[in-house]
Amino acid sequence: MKLEIDGERREVRALWYEGGKVMMIDQRCLPHDVRILELRSCGQVADAIRDMTVRGAPAIGAAAAYGMLLAKRDGEDLQAAARTLRSTRPTAHDLFFAVDHMLRKLAEGDDPVEAAEAYCDSIVEKCRMIGVHGEPLIKDGAKIMTHCNAGALATVDHGTALAPMREAWRKGKQMFVYVSETRPRLQGMKLTAFEMLNEGIPHAIIPDGASGHFMRKGVDVIIVGADRIAANGDFANKIGTYEKAVLAHELGIPFYTAAPISTFDFSIKSGEEIPIEDRSEDEVTMIDGMRVAPKGCPALNPSFDMTPHRYLSGIITEIGVLKPEDVVKVREARLS
Ligand code: MRU
Repeated sequence: MKLEIDGERREVRALWYEGGKVMMIDQRCLPHDVRILELRSCGQVADAIRDMTVRGAPAIGAAAAYGMLLAKRDGEDLQAAARTLRSTRPTAHDLFFAVDHMLRKLAEGDDPVEAAEAYCDSIVEKCRMIGVHGEPLIKDGAKIMTHCNAGALATVDHGTALAPMREAWRKGKQMFVYVSETRPRLQGMKLTAFEMLNEGIPHAIIPDGASGHFMRKGVDVIIVGADRIAANGDFANKIGTYEKAVLAHELGIPFYTAAPISTFDFSIKSGEEIPIEDRSEDEVTMIDGMRVAPKGCPALNPSFDMTPHRYLSGIITEIGVLKPEDVVKVREARLS
């Protein structure tokens, strides 16, 4: 993606490796401040995943791959480093996929820098292909809805849900994107709107609760990301996804999730087995550090919800748009 950093428009990824350090855009500071952090140890990378400096399933995976590289360079116990990274966020499958991938590559004696860079490059290429396969789902003049941020920031580059929109826009198609704000962390309002503005794609931020209203008025397609997809096509994504899927079903609006194969978890049969992360009450009761709920009021903060596969029109992957029942093809692609 192209971003303005220190007054200069530069091509950057959400995170990268440079001079022995992991560099990452601090997503907590966006949209007002594009700040690049330099992380020097696997522990710092784990903290950055936990506190959502870097977030979005594929980007979390990429950060973990770089974390393992730093652990290897620093002569740390790799199993302990893997445990630390795995403990940061429970839902995004890419985290576990990337850690296992790096453990395997390091055990085979691969160069750690090359292995981590290859992992990130492959995620970027997969997301580019998600854009290519998803683009035909967007007709010229389409009204599209998305949720949370499944853009370049969430995936190193291109995005998952946003990749087809980027590709359609690049091909000259007109579109309008409804960006739901995504309480409580506001990834839609802060990050997706930032990416849309940056690309020049027409869009508007809407309150999460206004999604049904706009769907009823006319939305052509809904595309969201995924944090973990079970073997039957059920998937977890940012809280609020499930209700959009049910409403889309009721209103006959095509509803897609987009994800690379690293997000698929074939070890679980259905979405009921996906671990759902609970985050701090403060994310709900406070907004940008200011308490807005009455003192002493408890809050519940599940970070993700699970959408059963029956609500899905398809899953946009790097190998094509799959029906949930064709998830097995992804497994074959992963093994090949
Ligand atoms: O809590 P987050 O911001 O990491 O959640 C992100 C999402 O739910 C995204 O939709 C998902 O990770 C897909 S990112 C391409």
